[in-house]
Amino acid sequence: MKILAIETSCDETAICYLEMNSDQENIRVIIQHNIIHTQLEHIEYGGVFPAIAKREHQINLPIILEQIMQNQEIPDYICVTSGPGLEPALWCGITFAQELGEKWNIPVIPVNHMEGHILSILVPEKTTEFTIPAELFPLPALALLISGGHTELVSVKNIGDYAIIGKTRDDAVGEAFDKVARILGLPYPGGPEIAKLASQYSEHIPKIENLPRPMLHTPDYDFSFSGLKTATLYLSQDITKEHGTIPDDYKISIAHEFEQAAAEVITKKTMKALIDTGSQTLIIGGGVSANRTITQSLIQKAQEIIPRENIHTPSKELTGDNALMIGLAGYFKIIRDKQKSSDFNYEIRADGNLSL
Ligand code: KG4
Ligand code: ZN
Repeated sequence: MKILAIETSCDETAICYLEMNSDQENIRVIIQHNIIHTQLEHIEYGGVFPAIAKREHQINLPIILEQIMQNQEIPDYICVTSGPGLEPALWCGITFAQELGEKWNIPVIPVNHMEGHILSILVPEKTTEFTIPAELFPLPALALLISGGHTELVSVKNIGDYAIIGKTRDDAVGEAFDKVARILGLPYPGGPEIAKLASQYSEHIPKIENLPRPMLHTPDYDFSFSGLKTATLYLSQDITKEHGTIPDDYKISIAHEFEQAAAEVITKKTMKALIDTGSQTLIIGGGVSANRTITQSLIQKAQEIIPRENIHTPSKELTGDNALMIGLAGYFKIIRDKQKSSDFNYEIRADGNLSL
């Protein structure tokens, strides 16, 4: 089965061409192309502007497609992200996919971006060909999805059968990283900048007061990051009052303490969910899974509960948004839906708040 997958939910314009062959035991995946174009136009605005994202997707989609289709035959299916994300950006991908679907006379399959983040862990580091066992991982699994728009704990009963058991009540963790970066005068996206600063922390760096760990002890699986961000703002204002600016070594202390606070609440809630749901597998996905302090803290605690080989993070290239994960999620949806009906006639709409 040949799949062309398209992802335009935010500021990455991404297309991928996959070949999937399955037998009883395994699924063989060949990645023919996997192109991710990150729009740099947003950097100067310090955040993603939907109108600019839309314009850039419209410019980039045909250019990337042409590159991919130069040496490929018409695929069997097109998979496209239908949500969640920025609706004007999502519509670019959907319209583009539908036009292609009509031209090539093949079905267009809508895919949930968050299911893509879950399944991104199936792809090994730096590879173009790999095998997935038909039984993907021991179930039930728990997925922690941490990105710029989401912070969710998802119980995975089966592929395609998800229940959100906890989520943020305000900001997503990536959003908090981005806002704290802005407070410290760092460019967008702020997550990698905060992580870089935090890694310079040592005992010679000035100590600051502890930041709060919001909702650390609540009996649910929810998160809150807005209070942590505000506390960081007040602390930064106090330091500015005292020093006239935020000295570089204080920026390191703040980045380190903020990252520690985020890691601690995420780890605590995830371990509680892992134990309470009796999950056998832990999947960590989304842009913030690039943060080593957070993933190391999660892995260290989770391996006291489940075997290390059942704890998965995406390869470095696939932590952020990409079309490969959309192709994989689309593949499993095609297999599921084929059993129900053979005509793949979806009415596809962009849904900014689409839930798992
Ligand atoms: O999944 P993603 O690429 O896009 C969304 O669907 O949101 O995630 C982007 C988010 C941004 O907020 C970015 O700052 C954050 O992931 N991020 C990080 C790191 N790398 C990216 N946050 C913390 N540490 C990182 N190393
Ligand atoms: Zn994402």
